Amino acid sequence: MAHVFVTRQLPGDALERLAAEHDVEVWPEDMPPPRGALLSRVADAEGLLSLLVDQVDAELIDAAPKLRAVANYAIGFDNIDVEAAARRGIQVGNTPDVLTDATADLAWALMLAVARRIVEAHQDAVGGRWHTWEPQGWVGVDVHGATLAVVGAGRIGRAVARRASGFDMEVVMVDLGDDLHGALERADFVSVHTPLTPETEHLIDADALARMKPTAILVNTARGPIVDQDALAAALHEGRLAGAGLDVTVPEPLPPDHPLYRAPNLLIVPHIGSATATARAAMADRAVDNLLAALDDRPMPYPVQPS
Ligand code: DGY
Repeated sequence: MAHVFVTRQLPGDALERLAAEHDVEVWPEDMPPPRGALLSRVADAEGLLSLLVDQVDAELIDAAPKLRAVANYAIGFDNIDVEAAARRGIQVGNTPDVLTDATADLAWALMLAVARRIVEAHQDAVGGRWHTWEPQGWVGVDVHGATLAVVGAGRIGRAVARRASGFDMEVVMVDLGDDLHGALERADFVSVHTPLTPETEHLIDADALARMKPTAILVNTARGPIVDQDALAAALHEGRLAGAGLDVTVPEPLPPDHPLYRAPNLLIVPHIGSATATARAAMADRAVDNLLAALDDRPMPYPVQPS
């Protein structure tokens, strides 16, 4: 029986399966364990179930001499120093596939909501500003028939692209090494789905944003640092971009005085791409399957696959 630290209570019954075989401590609070608590909790842990907000870096790995397995409750693993873990022979796993469709759905929800001004229209309807049917009121842009650039042709990007056929859209898939700027110039919608790596940090920078049409809409459901937020705020404020939908920011949440909160035609949601009951329970199952395997000295079924 190994000692496992789990940094948050999870949905479903996966943690019961883990506790049936191991000594499990679950962080009981709604907020993540502060750094000091995390470091002290891993001191005698052989397994760690981490969330994307927990930094599993070289310092943490040094503070966890018995650690053998890290199961991240996410598909992204930019919060983990995979190389430092590998040097210590620690297995690292993530939760692929089970959140692909939920995240793709959310990307579409953001595209549609920004294009058709859904939040603003709702606020006006419930706020007493819906006086009559207005020929020029709440006018948005067409989604159907438009051109969609999908930046990142992995599982989620491809799922977003599949949905576009129902909207009769032209889809341009862009992977690293492809002509990003050429795709941005053509696109009416740009949806970002690359993992966060040193190569993709600020991939959508001021230069990239300048290539986009002033009528275009940008959606990011991947990781905040992929988009240069200051450049995005400036482009929206100056009307060089028609709108944006963000599921992810840096930091999360943004500080209350961040310029993005005052940017026009911006919709921000709190990193909810995988937030469906089915996806979140399946993620817990995959994370626990990873731990059970690694603590039993077997390979994880869902090991991270650094690009
Ligand atoms: C992930 O899994 O990486 C998402 O960002 C959160 O579910």
